[in-house]
Amino acid sequence: MSNSTEMPSNPIKAGWESPSNIALIKYWGKHGKQLPRNSSVSFTLSTAATRTFVTIKDENRTGKVELDFIFNGKENPAFSARVENFLNSICDEYFTFLKKYSIHIDTSNSFPHSSGIASSASGMSALALCLCDIENQLNDKTNFDENFCLKASEVSRLGSGSACRSIYPEVAVWGQHEDIPGSSDEYAIGIRHQIHPVFKSFHDDILIISAGEKSVSSTAGHNLMEGNPFAPVRYQQANQRMKLLITALKQGNISDFGKIAEDEAMTLHALMMCSDPSYILMEEGTLSVIRKIKQFREQTSIPVFFTLDAGPNVHVLYPDEGESQVNAFIQNELKPYCNEGRIIRDKVGTGPEKIS
Ligand code: DP6
Repeated sequence: MSNSTEMPSNPIKAGWESPSNIALIKYWGKHGKQLPRNSSVSFTLSTAATRTFVTIKDENRTGKVELDFIFNGKENPAFSARVENFLNSICDEYFTFLKKYSIHIDTSNSFPHSSGIASSASGMSALALCLCDIENQLNDKTNFDENFCLKASEVSRLGSGSACRSIYPEVAVWGQHEDIPGSSDEYAIGIRHQIHPVFKSFHDDILIISAGEKSVSSTAGHNLMEGNPFAPVRYQQANQRMKLLITALKQGNISDFGKIAEDEAMTLHALMMCSDPSYILMEEGTLSVIRKIKQFREQTSIPVFFTLDAGPNVHVLYPDEGESQVNAFIQNELKPYCNEGRIIRDKVGTGPEKIS
C-alpha cells in the first residue's frame, strides 16, 4: 500500500481528530513488525481523542525527516523524538514525501496527559490519517474510501498496535480470525454493520484511579509475553473468546459480553503478574472498584461491567438504558476511589473526523 508524491507549490495541510479505543479482547503479545499474536476487538470511543494537524512545506535537502513538533501548544522533546523515529521508519515504504519537505506537526489531546489515559491509539491514528490525507492531496484525490482507511490503519499499527483499531466507527477487529472475513494482522477492519444496536450506544466511564506514569510501557509488556510460559495457551484462549464475543456482539447478548470483557481484563493483569519480571499494575482502588461493580450487579441485576487497560484505571461499561442508575452508583460509590474524583465519561463513538 505504498505511494508516491509530487512537489507542492504551497504548504499542504491536513487535520484529523481521532478517538481512543478500549479493547474488549486484548492485544497482548506481538512479533515481527508490530504483528499481533492474537486478534482483538475494541469499542471506538468518542470523548478521549487527539487532534492533529500536519503541514508539509519547504523543500528538505537533508535526506532525513525534518520535524518541528508541538504537543498541547508546547515543544515536547520526548514525544518529538518518538514521532521522528516513527516517521523515519515508515517514509521509504509508505510516504516518500516525508523526506522531501519539512514537516510541522501540531497535536493536542482532549484529555489531560497526566490522566493516565493511553494516548498512543488516538495520537498515532490521528497522525496516520493526516499523512494519508496529505498523500491524497498530493495525488489530487479527495475520497476517503476503504483503501484510505486500510492504509491509515496499517500505518497506525506501525506506530502503536492498538491505534489501528481507532480508524473505524463503533467496533473494530484487528488480527486475522477465522470467523471474521477480511480480518488481517496488517490492519484493522470495521465491523459495525454486524453489531447489535444495543452496543452502539454503550457507555465507557473511565475512572482515573491513578494519574501517574505507567511502570511498564506497553511495548515492554508485549515483549514479556515472549518468555511467558502461559503465552501459547493465552493465544488459544483469546481466539476462542473472540468467537464468543463476536457472537454476543451480533446477538446483543449483554451478559455474555460483560463476562468475556471482565475475564479478558483479569487475564491481561494475570499475565503481567506472572511475567518475568512481574508487574502489578492494579492499585488498591482498582480492586475496590472491581468488587463494588460485581456487588452492585449481583444486588440490582443492572448490567454494568468493567474492563482494564495495562494500568490501574477502570473502564465501566454499561448500556445506555441503565445510565441514570449506574451514574448514581458511580458518583456515590466509585468516585471516592478516583484520583481527585476524576472520571472521563465516554461512549462508543462514530470514529475519526477530518478537521476542515
Ligand atoms: C493492553 O498498542 O499500546 O491496551 O503496539 O507496543 O504500542 P504497542 O502497544 P499498545 O498495546 C495496547 C495493549 C492493551 C490492549 C489493547 O489495546 O488491545
